[in-house]
Amino acid sequence: MSVLRIAFVGSGAVNFGGAEGPWDHSARLEQLGGVDVVAIVDPLVAKARAVLERKLAGPHHHLYRNCVVLASCSEVLAMEEQRRPQAAFIGSCVSRPDHAQMCF
Ligand SMILES: NC(=O)c1ccc[n+]([C@@H]2O[C@H](COP(=O)([O-])OP(=O)(O)OC[C@H]3O[C@@H](n4cnc5c(N)ncnc54)[C@H](O)[C@@H]3O)[C@@H](O)[C@H]2O)c1
Repeated sequence: MSVLRIAFVGSGAVNFGGAEGPWDHSARLEQLGGVDVVAIVDPLVAKARAVLERKLAGPHHHLYRNCVVLASCSEVLAMEEQRRPQAAFIGSCVSRPDHAQMCF
């Protein structure tokens, strides 16, 4: 099966779940498989790192083994091409110009 490198932009509820239950993007993708999560992007890097640590300790840890935490989409675009995500799930609170530039 081919594997798609993906990034999550925003480490909050829509990407990683909240009190309402496991309806979030990451939970759905973990069921589908076929992805390699290569970046979680959030200016609140401590929050994003906590999310990644939780995922690395969970049943789908293998999907996150290549994942890095980054503070901005600009840092994603600076990743070397072989590691750069091919798709991104945007789950951040504001629409920003650099989101539109994320044409992996
Ligand atoms: N939660 C839902 O049920 C739901 C459903 C549909 C759509 N949405 C939309 O999804 C977006 C996120 O909602 P949420 O509930 O996950 O919010 P949230 O507050 O739980 O998480 C948003 C995260 O985005 C981060 N963020 C802010 N600016 C960023 C940037 N420039 N780059 C990367 N990360 C950034 C914040 O630090 C925060 O951690 C909102 O626009 C919301 O309207 C939410």
